[in-house]
Amino acid sequence: MALPEEFLDRLRASNDIESVISPYVNLRRRGRTMVGLCPFHGEKTPSFVVYNDTQSFYCFGCGIGGDMITFVKNIENISYMEAVKLLASKAGLPLPEDGYDDRAAAERKELLSANREAALFFHKSLNSPIGAAALKYIRGRGLKDETIVKYGLGFAPDSWDSLYKHLKSLGFSDYILYKAALISKNSRGGYFDFFRNRLIFPIIDLRGNVVAFGGRDLGDRGPKYLNSNETPVYKKSQTLFALNVAKNTKKDYLILTEGYMDTIAVHQAGFEEAIATCGTSLTEEQANVMAKYAKEVILSYDSDEAGQKATARATPILKKAGLEVRVLRITGAKDPDEYIKKFGAIRFKNLIEESLTAADHQFSGMKQKYNINTEEGRINYLNESVKFISRIPSKLEREVYIAKIANETGVAKATITETVERMIKREDRKEEKARWNSEKSSYRFRQDKVSPEKAGNLKEVVCEEKIITALFQNQGHIGKAKKNLSAEDFVSDFHKRVYNKMLSLFENGTEISLTQFSEEFSGAEIARLSQYLADNDDMRYTPEDADRYIEALKSGKQKNAEDIKKMSSEEYMEYMKKLIKSKTDRG
Ligand code: CTP
Ligand code: MN
Repeated sequence: MALPEEFLDRLRASNDIESVISPYVNLRRRGRTMVGLCPFHGEKTPSFVVYNDTQSFYCFGCGIGGDMITFVKNIENISYMEAVKLLASKAGLPLPEDGYDDRAAAERKELLSANREAALFFHKSLNSPIGAAALKYIRGRGLKDETIVKYGLGFAPDSWDSLYKHLKSLGFSDYILYKAALISKNSRGGYFDFFRNRLIFPIIDLRGNVVAFGGRDLGDRGPKYLNSNETPVYKKSQTLFALNVAKNTKKDYLILTEGYMDTIAVHQAGFEEAIATCGTSLTEEQANVMAKYAKEVILSYDSDEAGQKATARATPILKKAGLEVRVLRITGAKDPDEYIKKFGAIRFKNLIEESLTAADHQFSGMKQKYNINTEEGRINYLNESVKFISRIPSKLEREVYIAKIANETGVAKATITETVERMIKREDRKEEKARWNSEKSSYRFRQDKVSPEKAGNLKEVVCEEKIITALFQNQGHIGKAKKNLSAEDFVSDFHKRVYNKMLSLFENGTEISLTQFSEEFSGAEIARLSQYLADNDDMRYTPEDADRYIEALKSGKQKNAEDIKKMSSEEYMEYMKKLIKSKTDRG
């Protein structure tokens, strides 16, 4: 049974780790902490420390650690649930018991109903006098009134609390509205509307529920697009905008565009098979969802460099999900929306029909770059395509493209095949060598069971530990940090999971404590988290520290990757210290 975060929060608030531990351990105060002899291993000098701030314990002798639930579980040798029950009864808290699942379901229902009312409110506002300018704007962008109705477009008034007041008058609680991500909290604890002066695109799931919103700025305040934060009914990595409509077309392909406006413009032109991700780049989960509804995806990202990069990134993700991939080649316009406006629906249909497979798209790009009528151009073209071909996993596909470029350049197939094979071998050897090197240089860390990735990525994983600790200590900073840091940036899977959990707790407005982790994470993992907190108990990180480590993690991965790889662990620690220091000095 998954325990609700809110219950764990109350459990933690009604107990206190010192009073939970003190019946078992003779604790003595030392500064902000309490120390005693570890009850889990025999020792003569105390190395068992209890931290009031983080409500955690850690033994520097044997490495055991965790929150109050972990403690009770280990000391009494009982299960997690039994430990929870014991603590709950000690605090006189009623257990959620089986009623909990119903309660979570009831809450989801309430969130969806708040969203539906919000969508109605936004839609009505668009058609009322306050929405006149917004309506004019959206009509000016070529959307017909029936399209506006069909997609339930709306307007979030330029006001701090008009939606908040409206939904309160319908009886929704602050708790639900905040959990639905419809309102934000200010520093004085007051609430205000999340979307203000924005054109609103409701995001609707496959069952027809409004799960979230995208909002386009209509003034010049804030980011151009704002998307709802994640909620219990909205997981960004799984959601696709307009799939609720696209799935009904029963076509065997989907058109993947960059955003809300492109999708709707393409639908309006008669191609309702278009969808978009909502303010995030494509994930494997989304690709798997698409594979349930189609055999093929036509990538229709913007024609600019960013769009082409996104195309190159998305292709292998879609292929991995078993989808065929084609690429729409837009010329003379920056995106599908603009293309349709300029050239019309029929020309757009031609574009779909003329779309190339992802590989052909690559080849044609290369061909454009080099003039294969000259010797030099042919050589360059061959070199680049051989590299490209050597990265294709299927031998059959490689053969097809080898034949193609042999034909185009007049170079013998056998020669090209040989070159490709040699290149594949060389790449394999390079990988092998890199693996061996990282094994060798970090064999000391191979025993790390919690973050096994540390072996090959000591530098990154150390950085990640600091980031997790700093964000734990500065929870108010998570909202800002997450703009620069996604879970995907973490090398260690453990850290990835910790960060995801922190984000979801943060988004639900729950205070982050070890207690919230102790069910999903193993004992060793909880001990590791409490170790991070314990190791850094005297060292309070600031939000700026968190940012610096995030930057160091990311720049370590990109710019300096080569130099850093050559450093020993000691050199790297030194380098990191300097990096952090130089930033502090400057700032
Ligand atoms: N996006 C976002 N945040 C931003 C900018 C964009 O989340 N600050 C996402 C939105 O989901 C948007 C998509 O990226 O739908 C595409 O962005 P962009 O190409 O900038 O928008 P357009 O669709 O061209 O929007 P418009 O035509 O309204 O300018
Ligand atoms: Mn656009």
